[in-house]
Order: sequence, then structure tokens, then C-alpha cells
Amino acid sequence: MTNNHPKKEELDKIIKSEKNPDLNQSHLIEELKKKYSNSHIPYNLEGLINHKNGHFNDAIQNFNRAKEKLVNEDNNNKDLSILYQNIGVSYNKLSQTENAITSLIQSIDLNNNNLISLNLFTQIFLEKNINFSKNLKKFLCNLMKLQYIEVDPISAKIQNFLAENFVLNEFLPGLTISKNNGGLKTIEVNFEDNFEFELLISVLTEGLIINHFLEENMSKYRSLIMRKVLEEDTAFLSNKYIISILLSLSRQSKINEFCWNYSSEEKEIIKKIENNILKNNYNNTELLFFAIKAISTYKNIYIDKKITSWLNKNKKNLPKIINEEYTYIKKENEKFLAYSKLFLSKNNNDQVTNKVRRQYEENPYPVWTKMQLHSKKLDVKSYLNNQLNWFDNNVDEIKKPNILIAGCGTGRHAIQTANIVKESSVKAIDISSTSLAYAQIMTERFGIQNIKFKNQSILELKNNSYDIIESHGVIHHMEDSEKALEVLANNLKKGGLLSLGIYNKMGRKEINFIRSFIKKNEIEPSDKNIVWIREHIKNSTPEKIRKRLILSKDFYSVSGCRDLFFNVQETQFNIRQIKQLIEKNNLRFMGFTGLSKTHITNFKKLYSDTSLFDLDCWDDFQKNNKDFFGSMYQFWTQKFN
Ligand SMILES: C[S@@+](CC[C@H](N)C(=O)[O-])C[C@H]1O[C@@H](n2cnc3c(N)ncnc32)[C@H](O)[C@@H]1O
Repeated sequence: MTNNHPKKEELDKIIKSEKNPDLNQSHLIEELKKKYSNSHIPYNLEGLINHKNGHFNDAIQNFNRAKEKLVNEDNNNKDLSILYQNIGVSYNKLSQTENAITSLIQSIDLNNNNLISLNLFTQIFLEKNINFSKNLKKFLCNLMKLQYIEVDPISAKIQNFLAENFVLNEFLPGLTISKNNGGLKTIEVNFEDNFEFELLISVLTEGLIINHFLEENMSKYRSLIMRKVLEEDTAFLSNKYIISILLSLSRQSKINEFCWNYSSEEKEIIKKIENNILKNNYNNTELLFFAIKAISTYKNIYIDKKITSWLNKNKKNLPKIINEEYTYIKKENEKFLAYSKLFLSKNNNDQVTNKVRRQYEENPYPVWTKMQLHSKKLDVKSYLNNQLNWFDNNVDEIKKPNILIAGCGTGRHAIQTANIVKESSVKAIDISSTSLAYAQIMTERFGIQNIKFKNQSILELKNNSYDIIESHGVIHHMEDSEKALEVLANNLKKGGLLSLGIYNKMGRKEINFIRSFIKKNEIEPSDKNIVWIREHIKNSTPEKIRKRLILSKDFYSVSGCRDLFFNVQETQFNIRQIKQLIEKNNLRFMGFTGLSKTHITNFKKLYSDTSLFDLDCWDDFQKNNKDFFGSMYQFWTQKFN
């Protein structure tokens, strides 16, 4: 008996023995267990083989045995994380959701870069109805801080939970303000446990607030804090819960680009506090800190001319956190400006392109910070199958694909594709230099090596032959969308694949209602007007329209609202037009993406299996299912050979 682990050849031999009936796989594993009696690896291997053969209970038993062994070995968190991951995956197959979640949480707690566990946890958390246990709440607080997560849907689910489960008090749900004997206001935290408070802080700090109820309540809190700063009520302000709320509100305001509304009374208070700061009226550093932070929940203090000039002059006397934050942000801004200059294009495009360019230069879209990364690179076939789950497709294998992302915006889509597709080289173009700068910075942050960005219009593409072109939310912002599609198709190899996302006229009724209102009243897309139009939608639009619009994520940020309601150029399509465009460009429809299994089942009940590829059937189907596609059609096509 030795304490060593089996060698790779020994494991390979057992894995391969599955295909050779002369070799008894179970016997070989037993031998291995005997030979390496203190190693966890033979048990893990047996567990994996059990899992592969559908014996999930046996698999879990073996993974647990492996775990016991591993605890006695020189403990390695990464290996233990993998064992918990394996247990979670098997429990998930058995549909034992709570057990799966518990194991995956343990796995991620041990190694928060375990992408398999992170991605499976996210999938289960989003799809299933899960009890928000104390353990889960605690875990979610940590999860929200990670970089490799799909923050918006996770945060949306947490926000719904918070909004539904809090008791709404005068200001903040769960938090009451009461007067004590001395007349000072104090805070009593009523939460069953503080994880709910932490969850609230994490959704404010880590992503966009996309819940109307939370926005309303946190706005009230922002206003209260502001009044307290004016009253110089340091007893109230230095409460640790209030400090957390203040810091997270400051972060949230930056994320939503200051789109929350405020009253004229607040406007006056902001002026007074700002004046106090600029005139050095705050002798107390603590109060100065609260004042600066409170202002930063209403405006971007680090680009405001008066405030930055004051910050520069008073660098030595600034509260430490503000000084550090300012230094960091200045550096980030410089980097952003340098890249924006680098990506600046001298090309003189047509008037519409220039208008569109200006819009996206002023408001790069989408604003984002985090993203789930794939745990495994996929070949093109699997990449496609992953997206077109319900549509059979038999594309030939494409090795080392050349991919074009046409209109990459701030790079999210390009990074996703470059991260997933095996051995891919990605070129990503856009006409907005600031969006490209954003994209480049994020690409570096995510350590992605296989993307090159360029300032180039789709119309300037020179008949290259790409294996794959992806263009989402772009050609409908071009003056001649048909021409744009023709250029994209011409730049595709024969047999090449094109993924498109284009506006669905039927799904944009409510947005069009607001667009017409904006056009009729000649409302310019300034930040102030965007705050105003949001209030108008919340208070003065028909209930049916308001209800739909406040569900859109874009409603909750300035750049989102600008893209949603103020776009300078927009064409919208129906399925019949899509069919014509596809046929005209020698393309074959391969299927819609983003549809759920229920959607497809409903469709199949009415039409045959082969009708999945028949756009006339989809057109007919949409007539009775108006909300089916949402505001955008997303689909794949292939160029005929
Ligand atoms: C709504 S954003 C979509 C960004 C990205 N595709 C996404 O889905 O996240 C539209 C993008 O198309 C870009 N765009 C508009 N006209 C273009 C053109 N003629 N050539 C290249 N990009 C263009 C804009 O600059 C903007 O970044």
C-alpha cells in the first residue's frame, strides 16, 4: 500500500476499458482502490463512471467516499471543490434541487473560480423556485461580489425576493426610524437576520436595480440621508447601516448613470451641501466624507468641473477613501480616454451613420461589468447546438473559425463568443470609439486574447470571407438595413453562418408609443430629459404601457433609456420581411434562439416538426402569440453553398 495517487496512464486504462468487454472495469477500479488505498482519486473515478451510466445515487456515494479520503490527504480546496461540484451535478440529475444547491454552494465557497459549479448553480437558481434559506442568502451575498457571474438575472431574482418579502415601513423595508428620548433618530434593524440587509447592499453595489419598488424606496432613503447631511446629524449618519446604504447608493447611482428622479427640495439641498463643500465649510472630516458621498448619489462628482477642481486643490485634506477613489477613477478615466482616442476614426460616413455614431459615442451601450464565462470551449457545431437547442442542425465542422462581430458595442457579445468558441479568431467592429474603448478595457479585464477591435462601419467591410458573422441589435440602426444585410452576407464564406438580432415591430408597441411622444414633443436625449421621461412613463402613461416598460432592464439606466426610446435611427421588422431578406441574400433560416421548451412545444402542437424551419408558420403563430418574441428576433442563418 502506498499513499500515492494513481498515474494518468492507470486512469486512462480504466476509462478506455469501458469499450473493451474483455477488461472488467469494476475489477480494475477495485484493484486501483486497493493499490492506492489512501487516495480519493479511484472513488472519484468510479463516481464519474457511475454518473455517466446514469447511476446517480451510486455516484454520490462514491464522491462522498472520495471526499472522506481527501480530507485526510494534504487538503486541497480545488480538489474538494470539484468533489462537491460532482455531487451537485449528480443531485441535479436526480432533481434533488435543494441538495444540489447545497453541494454547489460548498463547491464555490471552496473555489470561487470553479466555473462548472458557478454556472450550474446559476442555472438552477434562475430556473427553479428556490427557498431563500439563511445559507442561500449568505452565499448570494458572496456570489454577487464575483466577476464571473451573470449579475443581472441573479440580481433581479434577489431584488424580487427583497421586494416581496420586506415589510414596508415608512422608508426602507425592514428598517425603522424611531425617535429616542433625546430626540435623536436611531436605527433599529428588524431583519430576521442581517443577510437580507447584506443582500440589499449587494444588489445596490454590484449591478443595476431593475425593480421599481426598490428604486422608489431607496430613492426615499437617499433623500433622507441628504437631509441628515444638511442637518449635520453625524449620530444618524455614522450608524453602520446608514454608512453601508450611503456607499451602496453612491455605487448604484454610478451604475444606473444617475437616472433616478429627485424633488425640487432635494435639488435645493444638493446645492447647499455642494456649496458647503466648495467653500470648505466642513471642518469635520467625517462630515465632509458624508457630504461628498451624499452628493455622489446624485451626480458624478469625479467629472463635475467645479467639484474636481476643488478635489484637486484640496487633495491633502480629503478623507482617505475619497482620495483613493478619486486617484483610481482618474486613472481609469485617463485609460478610457486614451483608448477612445486610439479608436477614433477619421472616416466621414453618411449623415445617419454620423448621428448614430454620436449617440453611441455619448452613451456607449450596454453598460456592463460582470459576465459568466464558459467552463469549456465549444467547437462550432456544439456552439450552435447550444443556442439552437430545439432546432436540429447539421453544420459541417469548421476548424479555427474566423468570426466577425458586426456592431460590437461595449464588447460583451464579442467577449462571450471569443470565450466560448474553440480556436476562434474574432474581429469586432463598431463605429463608436468610446464603445470600442469600453470593449477593449473589458477584454483586458477578462483576460481574453483572441479579439481585435476596429473602428469600422459594416458598410466599409471588404468582401472578406468569415466563417461566422454575428450582429445583434445593429443593422436596424442603419439607414439602409437591407443593404447592411447584403454586405454581411457578402462577407460570409459559402456555408458560413450568420446570427442576427433585429427589432420585432409587434413586440415594440409600447416602446413606439413613447418614441412617438418624444418625437411629437421634440424631446432631446439629454440626461435630464431621460430622468424626466422615466417619471412621465411611471406616472402619466396608460397602465398597460407602463407595466410593460418598467419590466425592461433598459428602463433602469440612462444609456438603456437612450437606446430604448431616443434612438436616432430605427427600423422594425416582421417575420415576412425577414423571410424575404433571407431569401434575397441566398441564406437559409436555421432557427430562432432564446426560445423556451414550452414555446417550442406550443408551436409543435399546431404545426409539424419540419415547420420549425418554415417562417410562414412562425408568422402565422405570432399572430396569436403577440408577445412571443419580445422586442427582438434572434436567429441563425447559413449561406447556401
Ligand atoms: C444597440 S447597440 C448593440 C451593441 C451590441 N451588438 C450588443 O448587442 O450588445 C448598437 C451598436 O451598433 C453600432 N453601429 C451602428 N451602426 C453601425 C455601423 N454602420 N457599423 C458598425 N456598427 C454600427 C453602434 O455604434 C452601437 O454600438
